[in-house]
Amino acid sequence: MDKGIGGLPQRVWLQLARPSLAHLQPFAAELPDLPVESIKQKLRKDYVAKLSFNENPYGPSPRAIEAMQAQLATLHLYQDATGDELRQAIAADLAVRPEQVILTNGADELILLLALAFLNPEDEVIIPSPTFGQYRASSVAMGARPIAVPLTDFRIDIEAILEAVSPRTKMVFLCNPNNPTGTIVTGHELEHLLKSLREDILLVVDEAYIDYVTDSEYTSALHYLPRRANLVVIRTFSKLHALAAARVGFGLSHEPIVNLLHRVRPPFNVNGIGQAGALASWQDIEYQGKMRELNTSNRKYLYSMLEAADLPYVPSQANFVLVDTKQDAAIMYKRLEAEGIIVRNAAGFGLPSHLRITVGRREDLARLGQILRGCSAVG
Ligand SMILES: Cc1ncc(COP(=O)(O)O)c(C=O)c1O
Repeated sequence: MDKGIGGLPQRVWLQLARPSLAHLQPFAAELPDLPVESIKQKLRKDYVAKLSFNENPYGPSPRAIEAMQAQLATLHLYQDATGDELRQAIAADLAVRPEQVILTNGADELILLLALAFLNPEDEVIIPSPTFGQYRASSVAMGARPIAVPLTDFRIDIEAILEAVSPRTKMVFLCNPNNPTGTIVTGHELEHLLKSLREDILLVVDEAYIDYVTDSEYTSALHYLPRRANLVVIRTFSKLHALAAARVGFGLSHEPIVNLLHRVRPPFNVNGIGQAGALASWQDIEYQGKMRELNTSNRKYLYSMLEAADLPYVPSQANFVLVDTKQDAAIMYKRLEAEGIIVRNAAGFGLPSHLRITVGRREDLARLGQILRGCSAVG
């Protein structure tokens, strides 16, 4: 029966909700989206390597764990609503004013706040495709029209973005490095885009994976912030800092934009434990360097595993690699799942023969390589 608990059928609730919700689905937690312990239970396995979520497999800085534990004793008190200590530390290191930094409940919340603050029904939002899904979800929630701009050779196509601009364009999302391809927009390309965009179009550059970049052609959008009013940079503590479950992200922009985001921000959006852990991790330069090095060397190791299995891949500047399985990706996905290795089938990104594989620990990648070589030997 199509009856909700309040008596009205689901379709009536849908009519009462914002019309745009008809075009959205809830986050569907399929096996690759579950926590490792749940995956182990479902697969009845002791060994599971979760390489589907682009998490840092080495865990947080010990200093972050210590700071978060110390925070437990004050959980009865509301935390600092704007996270001033963390904002000041970030601002000092990135050479911006603290007022230019906004902390959010993960980068995800910042994407939603941007949509809440700026998007009206019928506004157009340019979103390269494929890319991270929350740009579309948050835009559609507000009734805005996502304009998908296909990548060229797995790279974000700046000229195609400029061609897609219309009088209705309000926002452009740029994921740099891009998820799921791991490719970058170079500094030159970014500068060209910024120079060519109308000033009333907000360019949102998501730099969730910036810490893994080794290509010297890359420039953070932050570099252009002093000269560009229409720019927002997104960062997160979920990747290099390994604090995904603490839910801390932040945005960098100019004060008029940041102040508008504060108007729609829930006052206590970033919890005290997250703030404490993020601050300690931000200050732990040695830990960050170690994590960066591990990713670079493990990424190379993953490449060698893929080459040995004769599988083409897109060279990556992130902590994941997009792999061409040269067949329906579900076949290799299943084969890996049977051995406890969970990767991302990129069919959901419109790439049905590709897998996106997180750069895991070396021992997990060795096991992955062994299975992949077995697959290619079988044909
Ligand atoms: C490009 C990109 N942006 C943002 C996020 C979300 O980050 P957070 O955990 O800070 O919400 C992800 C997560 O995978 C991502 O890939």
